[in-house]
Amino acid sequence: MNDKLFIFDTTLRDGEQVPGCQLNTIEKIEIAKALEVLGVDIIEAGFPISSPGDFKSVEEISKVLKEPVICALTRAVEKDIDVAADSLKYAKRKRIHTGIGTSPYHIKFKFKSTQEEIIERAVASVKYAKKYVEDVEFYAEDAGRTENEYLARVIEAVVKAGATVLNIPDTTGYCLPEEYGQKIKYLVEHVKGIHKAVISTHCHNDLGMATANTVSGIINGARQVEVTINGIGERAGNTSLEEVVMIMKSRKHLGIETGIKTQNIFKTSRLVSSLMNMPVQPNKAIVGRNAFSHSSGIHQDGFLKNRENYEIIDPVDVGINESIIALTARSGRAALKHRLLNLGYNVKDEELQVIYEKFLEMADKKKEIKDEDLELLAGNQESTGPKLIKLEHLQIISGKSTIPVASVTLNVDGEFFTSTESGNGPVDAAFKAVKSIVRHKVRLEEFLVQAITKGSDDVGKVHIQIENRGKYYYGFAGNTDILTASVEAFINAINKIVQS
Ligand code: KIV
Ligand code: ZN
Repeated sequence: MNDKLFIFDTTLRDGEQVPGCQLNTIEKIEIAKALEVLGVDIIEAGFPISSPGDFKSVEEISKVLKEPVICALTRAVEKDIDVAADSLKYAKRKRIHTGIGTSPYHIKFKFKSTQEEIIERAVASVKYAKKYVEDVEFYAEDAGRTENEYLARVIEAVVKAGATVLNIPDTTGYCLPEEYGQKIKYLVEHVKGIHKAVISTHCHNDLGMATANTVSGIINGARQVEVTINGIGERAGNTSLEEVVMIMKSRKHLGIETGIKTQNIFKTSRLVSSLMNMPVQPNKAIVGRNAFSHSSGIHQDGFLKNRENYEIIDPVDVGINESIIALTARSGRAALKHRLLNLGYNVKDEELQVIYEKFLEMADKKKEIKDEDLELLAGNQESTGPKLIKLEHLQIISGKSTIPVASVTLNVDGEFFTSTESGNGPVDAAFKAVKSIVRHKVRLEEFLVQAITKGSDDVGKVHIQIENRGKYYYGFAGNTDILTASVEAFINAINKIVQS
């Protein structure tokens, strides 16, 4: 029988602490609902004392959600706990997450206190929270840098006070996997009564070890993991939900099961990314754009012989329709033949060789070869070719106390179309104008603006990802005018729908 691992999602609390990722209540409810569908066990909905907005979000999420436990964060302060309890009043299942720093740094420099006093405050906060709820989780902040013997004393005291879950955060992402695992093991072996509570990991990614540390914690006895979608969170982020869940699913010998409906992972990742304005890095494990894309000839050949030669996860398991064979100058004949077959060209070996040579010539000039290009290479000169769209004219009115308005003229295969739209901001207005001209239904998934170097006269680079009929298209443009670059990147992505 496998052990159940509880998934505690803190995207809406630790994740939301990231500058620029703040959400309004409606957006938080949308993410919370998606997390419920995904099957997370506990949702940390916010830190209610921190702002009226956070309080309201916890309250509203508590009203709407049925299945997951709704958790609210507090410091070891009575007022925080009062407010958290109030924010949770509508929750069907509720938890208060209280705690205090236990490392020498926190005790000396943050609290100017002593080890004994910290234990007293920890115990008092757990007892106080117990007056409101049965389920009280205790966090020993900076446990990663807390000496094990002292940590064990703190944990034993809060277990005695009634804590049901024991969170051992590596707040600064400092631990090595071996060290973090040993810390959990030490607590399992030295804390009296620890079996009455669930041990939880909470790892940050400052040294890129959050997932490794979390897995080490699980191996050594933790049965709850605190994670975020896409690994979003303070500084370098938290442990990512999708990584831990897929590790447990693909490494069965660990004997751990989660209740996550993994087919919803990709969808949830993109929802969080777009609502939080936080693009997912292309090479991000499990959910990055390139996570299931094969580009080198050797890999493509091996993949086409048997998917498992180069993939340890079936993309369908995380909600991605299929793997991508990107045709580039590094692709071999096997990948080319496979794609031609998909297009209905069953070519003989000699013909393939001729097409392959033309393909390499084209691939040297063009980054990626699309189906439309292959049609031409395969001799289908009758192909009418895609209707390519070009930005002809862009005028935007925007500024403080002004409703942004954009007027866009597009050249669609020689015909000119103009549209004017208003929007939330200049980019929104311009994208709406483009969308009103082109027929494709597109949803913006990623939007990233970068300056090439520093200085206000720089070229801005814009990366965009859009979704159309379940497929994702990437667009890029650079311009000294970032609004023009944004619209050109958007059009670049739309042109790829036409070409695919
Ligand atoms: O990283 C951390 O220590 C935390 C606690 C507040 C749980 O986020
Ligand atoms: Zn944290």
